[in-house]
Amino acid sequence: MAGRRDGSLMRDKGQSLRGSRIALAILTGVLLGCVFAFLFPHGFFSSDPPIQHRRLDKSGLQVASSSCESQERINMLKSDIASLLDKNAEFEKRIKDLTERLRRAEQGKDNAQKQFLVLGENHKAGPFGTVKGLRTNPTVIPDESVNPRLAKILEEVAVQKEIIVALANSNVQSMLEVWFNSIKKVGIPNYLVIALDDNIESLCKSNGVPVYKRDPDEGVDSIGKTGGNHAVSGLKFRILREFLQLGYSVLLSDVDIVYLQNPFHYIYRDSDVESMSDGHNNMTAYGFNDVSDEPAMGWARYAHTMRIWVYNSGFFYMPTLPSIELLDRVAGRLSRESKSWDQAVFNEELFFPSHPGYDGLHAPVKFL
Ligand SMILES: *[C@@H]1O[C@H](CO)[C@@H](O)[C@H](O)[C@H]1NC(C)=O
Repeated sequence: MAGRRDGSLMRDKGQSLRGSRIALAILTGVLLGCVFAFLFPHGFFSSDPPIQHRRLDKSGLQVASSSCESQERINMLKSDIASLLDKNAEFEKRIKDLTERLRRAEQGKDNAQKQFLVLGENHKAGPFGTVKGLRTNPTVIPDESVNPRLAKILEEVAVQKEIIVALANSNVQSMLEVWFNSIKKVGIPNYLVIALDDNIESLCKSNGVPVYKRDPDEGVDSIGKTGGNHAVSGLKFRILREFLQLGYSVLLSDVDIVYLQNPFHYIYRDSDVESMSDGHNNMTAYGFNDVSDEPAMGWARYAHTMRIWVYNSGFFYMPTLPSIELLDRVAGRLSRESKSWDQAVFNEELFFPSHPGYDGLHAPVKFL
């Protein structure tokens, strides 16, 4: 055969070349056909092959419909896509949840180890740099009898025994709406509005916002109904006590706050109080040494002062027994001193050291 082909080549080179090109083209076609048959055994447009090979967006569907696909198939595809997206969202949620639980577990382990170092049998001090005092006091043992109705609500709404709490009366309604809409947008499930009047209660109910209205016989309600922002601010220290007694950690939030992320991802859970600072940079928020200078004093001209911008009592997290002590101290002083501002009292109770005739709180605190 080779001889014959050689012969024909000799006879008419041009014609034979054309012939072999055609043969090559046919061969290529056949090969390509095989390859595609192998890669796409059900054709290009059938509904069975793995969906992730396709474009999942609307435009992809339009392309499919222009290539003569039946409406039924498109609907099937759409529902396939919808269910895949659903599953995807579910997986993402579960992964987020697991990551969060892992982080909490590690945080807990770390705290437990630190406490063990302090509370363990061995009271001799360890090597340099290993000795640590207690940062967190024991959490509260829940006592449901304090307020069974609130206990029931918290059981439904709180996540891992933590909850964002805000107090509101009708004077702050417009702020409250911005507040809960931002929380809903971020998708934070564990928050509760303490309604101080009927209007706020029904506003929350009609917006699907978890709400708790105190019983009318609970003493402080006249402040709650008519008080402005500051008066209501003072009330919160009394009301928060019940949450802690019921065994919940509270992230208290005033209503003039907008949420962009879930704050519980940024709580350390290693201090009695974690709070927002009024400071505007690292120095003012975390503290600095402010030296006052009196040249006339000669070699003793310098006096060092420790300065720190105050805690903002509109956004703080508290989980433990000393937190209740702090709340009681603040609420007690606010009821005795009618002119005091709650944020000032809150900070004085946190920061002033013990001195003759005064027993300081000494709660470990952390600026967020
Ligand atoms: C402020 O402090 C934080 C936390 O310690 C640090 O990460 C950051 O770099 C500091 N920023 C400046 C401007 O020093």
